[in-house]
This record gives sequence, C-alpha cells and structure tokens, in this order.
Amino acid sequence: MTDFDKVYDRSASNSVKWDKYQGQDILPMWVADMDFRSPSPVIDAIKEKAEEGILSYGNPPPELSSVFINRMERMYGWQVRDEDIVFINGVVPALNMACRALVGKNEALITATPIYTPFLEVGENNDVKLFKIKAEEGADGWKYPLEALEGSLRNHPEIKMLLLCNPFNPIGRSLRKIELIKIVSLCKQYDVWICSDEIHCELVFDDTVHFPVANLSAEAADISISLMAPTKTFNLAGVGGSIAIINNQEVREKFCIAKRGMCARVSTLTFAAMLAAYRDCEAWKEDLLQYLQDNRDYLLSRMSKIDGIRMNHVESTYLAWLDVRSLGLNDPQHFFESAGVGLSPGSQYEGPEYMRLNFACPRSVLADACDRIEKAVRNQ
Ligand SMILES: Cc1ncc(COP(=O)(O)O)c(C=O)c1O
Repeated sequence: MTDFDKVYDRSASNSVKWDKYQGQDILPMWVADMDFRSPSPVIDAIKEKAEEGILSYGNPPPELSSVFINRMERMYGWQVRDEDIVFINGVVPALNMACRALVGKNEALITATPIYTPFLEVGENNDVKLFKIKAEEGADGWKYPLEALEGSLRNHPEIKMLLLCNPFNPIGRSLRKIELIKIVSLCKQYDVWICSDEIHCELVFDDTVHFPVANLSAEAADISISLMAPTKTFNLAGVGGSIAIINNQEVREKFCIAKRGMCARVSTLTFAAMLAAYRDCEAWKEDLLQYLQDNRDYLLSRMSKIDGIRMNHVESTYLAWLDVRSLGLNDPQHFFESAGVGLSPGSQYEGPEYMRLNFACPRSVLADACDRIEKAVRNQ
C-alpha cells in the first residue's frame, strides 16, 4: 500500500512545483500535481518500456482503448465507441485544438469564471473573443451561472463554443445533472459546441457523482468534445497523455485537422503509463481518495478556526478555494509566501478575493502549512 504520509524531498527533482521556491522556506501548494509517489504499476510500466531501449513514437497498446471504454461503461454507464477516441498529449492543447477546429475568425467562446487559467488564454491563443460569465457563490455553495449563460448566448450569436470545466477547477464543484441538462439545451438552442474538460472526473469525494456531459443524450454527444486523462487522478502530470472523446464524425475530423502540427505524437512511455494507470491502479486510487478526503476535512477544520478565511466545500479535485477578502490584504500571494506557504493567487483565475490551495500532500506538510497560515493571520 502506498504510504501517503511519506514526505519526499522533491527539491532537486526539476519539478515546476518545487523549483518555484527553491532555496526558500516556502511550502509549494500551488500547481496541481501531488506530492505522492505515483502508483507502482505505472512506474514499473514506464521502466519496462524504457528497458526495451528504443524510445520511439508510439501507437496506443491494443488494450488501451478497450480498457478505457470498459472504464467509462463501468463508472458512468457511458458507451464510448472505439472510433470516438483521439489520443493526445494534453488536455490544455486539446482545448486550443477544439477552438481552432470549430470557432472561426469573428466568432467567440464563452466560459464561466473563476476558472483554470489556460481556459482564459484559449481566446487570445486563437485570436477569437472570449466571453466570461461569473459563477455565483450562495449560502449553499457555488452555482453555475445558467441565467448569464442564456443571456450571453441570446445576445451574442457569435459565440460558437462553451468551454466547460467539470469538475470545476478552482471551485471544487461537480456540476449537477440538472445543470448539465440545461447547459446542453441552451447550447443546442443557440448552436454552440461544448468542449468539456473532465480531467478531474475521478477525483470526487463523499457521494458526489460525476456526469460526463456527452453521456446525457444523443444530442449532448453530438455537440460535444469531452477531454479526459489519467494524469490528475494517478499523478502523471509530467508524463502527459489524454483522451478526446468525440462522437460526431465531422467534428472529430475537424479536431484531427486542427491537431496537425500542433501536438507531438504520444510516446510509447506515455501510452504504457496510461494503460497501467487505467488498468492496474484501482486499489491505489481508492486509498488516494480516502487520504485526500481526510486532508480536505482536516484543512476545513483548521481553516474554519481562522478568522478572515473561509474555505469552500470541496466536492471534487484536490484544490481548496479560500475566500480571504476579510483579511483585507493588498497582496494576498505575498502575504502567504511571507508566511511560508506558496498558494495560487485567485486573480490568476479571475477570483481576486480568493487563494487556491493544493492539499494533495502528506498530512504533516498540510498541518505545517495550516500552522504557518494561522500564525501569520494571528500576527497580521
Ligand atoms: C481543469 C484542468 N484541465 C487541464 C489541466 C492540465 O491538463 P494537461 O496537463 O493534460 O494539459 C489541469 C491541470 O491542473 C486542470 O486543472
């Protein structure tokens, strides 16, 4: 069994997460990768592949599609066909390819904020306008801004694609089936494609249920590009490897054309890792989810005792969204870094009153971070 409590020294690992604060006493709790050892079957699969000694361009192992198809059927009752699957190197490139494939010049995208930063960049990257609507936080949590979506689609016929993030990073929410049904019906009504990033779909807690948007109806499948990957769940961020599921043949062809020259072939090492993750790591995942859920509860209990910080209820992802506006800070990121904790500033996601905290780390590290935050707020 993986020892999730074990603290690894990642200071010399050339990782984006740990290099940022190299040589400083700042705990990195920002970018979404976990400080846990990736599952052994994945490490072994990569080693075995590397031992072949020739690191070539890859084709997916014959078993990979069927393992993924069976997984979707088992987890969601979703019948993905072999021909619906396009393997790609990353979800972020795929968001951009989807835009390139289906949104023309003088047309536009829409997304709800606060949102994972690369969503905010898709418009600029592809020279199309991005409309933004704000998700609202009410007494019972965050809500998808359905009215604002309807208003924008009605008033701006140039909007051709909705970029959806479900589970919703950074607010840690899984969209309800009823919300997704409404989203699909609006997109259908206004002729808008849906590109749905579901990379966090397996990181759900308690009795939260993930609904792949494309599985809601034949209509939903027809207008959507769904993006999934084993990389978040099994901590393979640096290895890459993801899957676009595109039921509509014309859309799939356009996506593959948009992909040309923009995305390196998936390597044999990556395919080996994807197969091992999806096929051989269920027990690891169960243990991980329990550990993350306990971390979430621990963090919530600590944050709820700090005046001026309010933590959201995290249904999914391992990212907490901390409302720090009551602290009245000019530069929240600097404040927390000075306290010895490196968080992601909410401004990066268009939620400037918030900070995002990655709690996928050993409990002792999380406890240390909470102590540092508590002390800094007390001495403010
Ligand atoms: C919602 C979301 N999409 C995509 C990614 C990154 O995907 P990839 O590394 O496959 O480009 C992340 C990473 O944090 C994420 O949170």
